[in-house]
Amino acid sequence: QETIYILAIESSCDDTSAAVLRNGKVLSNIVATQQIHEQYGGVVPELASRAHQQNIVPVVHQSLASANIDKKQLSAIAFTRGPGLMGSLLVGTSFAKSLSLGLDIPLIEVNHMQAHILAHFIEDAEGTVPTFPFLALTISGGHTQIVQVNDYFDMRILGESLDDAVGEAFDKSAKIMGLPYPGGPLIDKYAQLGNPKAFPFPRPKVDGLNFSFSGLKTSILYFLQKEVKSDPDFITHNLNDICASIQHTIIAILMDKLEQAVRQTGIKTIAIGGGVSANSGIRKVLQQMEDKKGWKTHIPKFEYCTDNAAMIGIVGYLKYKNNDFSHQSISAIARYSI
Ligand code: KG4
Ligand code: ZN
Repeated sequence: QETIYILAIESSCDDTSAAVLRNGKVLSNIVATQQIHEQYGGVVPELASRAHQQNIVPVVHQSLASANIDKKQLSAIAFTRGPGLMGSLLVGTSFAKSLSLGLDIPLIEVNHMQAHILAHFIEDAEGTVPTFPFLALTISGGHTQIVQVNDYFDMRILGESLDDAVGEAFDKSAKIMGLPYPGGPLIDKYAQLGNPKAFPFPRPKVDGLNFSFSGLKTSILYFLQKEVKSDPDFITHNLNDICASIQHTIIAILMDKLEQAVRQTGIKTIAIGGGVSANSGIRKVLQQMEDKKGWKTHIPKFEYCTDNAAMIGIVGYLKYKNNDFSHQSISAIARYSI
């Protein structure tokens, strides 16, 4: 049996990542996170692109070295084609194309959102892999989707955010409170010490399985502006309770739609992915649904939740086995549906 080595490259947003997989098993997964955006309170596309250019060669070298693989052993190169920031995607795409040409090995394009879902099939992912069909809740800084997954490459979006992604809702709420970027993990941290019912925020009314998060950010802004007028230290004095209330509201919005999707499809196997699935509150609520509603939930290892090249590599491996290769003329695309 042929041993398949995939080098995978991810550069869709602000993380430069490279991974090496042997037959779907991760040998290395190197992620260089860009610190430069912190001071701007969000990702600055031009700076992200430049940082990718600086990081990509050392990150790829490191992934090969820590996998103990020579580039001549590689079977194929997989890369993120989209969706993402064009300037960022271009760095990974150009690099992957050049290396595939130089080594004369196949090129495999990967959809970043499919990769967040198929990360569950990484061999060393914890727990059991989901069985088809399942519902994927993909929650990140760029996306919020409920996807029905019938097979590896047979996916249908049942609902998605009409405005801000859930990660943006976390990060923008944090920014309003003066917390550094990205604020999602900080809200999670403070929320664990606060009362989730302290400040009730309104929930949006959206038809079907779609989401909306922009209204929440506005109501948090107005609420805090009003409170700060009478007590300038309101935020510092109530930080834990505010964070717990925001997180509680966001989770309630997500779970409401997820339960609706389960009722609608009859599918009770749930797999979450994307950076926000690192959230401790979401992980806890999902685990509770196993006992409460008989769901089977799949939560990936933390390192496969946030942006990483290992998830690009597993899609590359699955496509390699299907002989699904890309042509040298392929280009990055910023908007790319699954
Ligand atoms: O998947 P990801 O690494 O990048 C994108 O593709 O967007 O997701 C990043 C997002 C950010 O918005 C970040 O604040 C959020 O995931 N995030 C969290 C937590 N950890 C990361 N949000 C809430 N709680 C967390 N523990
Ligand atoms: Zn992502």
